[in-house]
Amino acid sequence: MAELPPLTTAIIGTGGIGSAIARRLASGGQSLRLSSADTESARTLAAEIGPAAVAAAGNRDALHGAGAVVLALRFTVLKGVIDEIADMLTDRLVVVPSNPFGIDAQGNLSRLLPEGQSSGKVVAGWLPAGARLAMAFGTMSAALFESAGNRSPEPAVLFYATDDDRAGEEVERLIRTAGFAPVRAGGMEQSGRLEVGGDLHDLVVGPAEARSLTGGA
Ligand SMILES: NC(=O)c1ccc[n+]([C@@H]2O[C@H](COP(=O)([O-])OP(=O)(O)OC[C@H]3O[C@@H](n4cnc5c(N)ncnc54)[C@H](OP(=O)(O)O)[C@@H]3O)[C@@H](O)[C@H]2O)c1
Repeated sequence: MAELPPLTTAIIGTGGIGSAIARRLASGGQSLRLSSADTESARTLAAEIGPAAVAAAGNRDALHGAGAVVLALRFTVLKGVIDEIADMLTDRLVVVPSNPFGIDAQGNLSRLLPEGQSSGKVVAGWLPAGARLAMAFGTMSAALFESAGNRSPEPAVLFYATDDDRAGEEVERLIRTAGFAPVRAGGMEQSGRLEVGGDLHDLVVGPAEARSLTGGA
């Protein structure tokens, strides 16, 4: 049986979605190590969350003692940060909420990958051997994600995609900690369904409906 990850998670990127993920994980009892580009936003967020969160000295420092890392970064900076921390990712869960979209000066979104190309497969190709990738936590806008957590009586589902069973077990635990029910959409070839524009994006449903949408993947 796979070992459960430790109760400390690193979150690199503390903007719109990184801060929402941090708040939800901290409210579920997870200890966090946070980093951001200039460390100021990580420090501000750690102060807001309280003792459960620590602002790290940088991206590599964030990983010390953390069994999992969430890369809450825009797609355009993701590869650079992965390269910076690559040697520390072996045998860790790597969670990526990034959508492969850019935004122009007028606020228009455009997909940065060719139509049909899976962002999950692209990110998997950037990781070192031994890193366990799950595409997760980027399937809802930050405001919806924060408001849908700990829903009752039935929890809302957070979909994820992975090719790795152990990553699946580990990310499911994080998803539950954040106050959601995990449902696997499938392997990395399904990651497009989770993205902006995908049929599972911004969907707030319970587990039974989620399983009917994914065919029980
Ligand atoms: N916002 C949402 O509602 C939402 C929802 C789902 C998915 N997503 C996806 O999540 C990704 C992030 O979106 P976002 O809205 O959170 O972006 P954002 O608000 O711009 O935040 C990006 C974060 O990345 C940090 N960062 C940039 N370069 C870095 C580096 N080299 N090292 C460490 N940290 C670095 C920034 O640091 P500073 O704070 O110091 O600038 C900032 O905290 C995107 O791909 C987006 O599509 C967003």
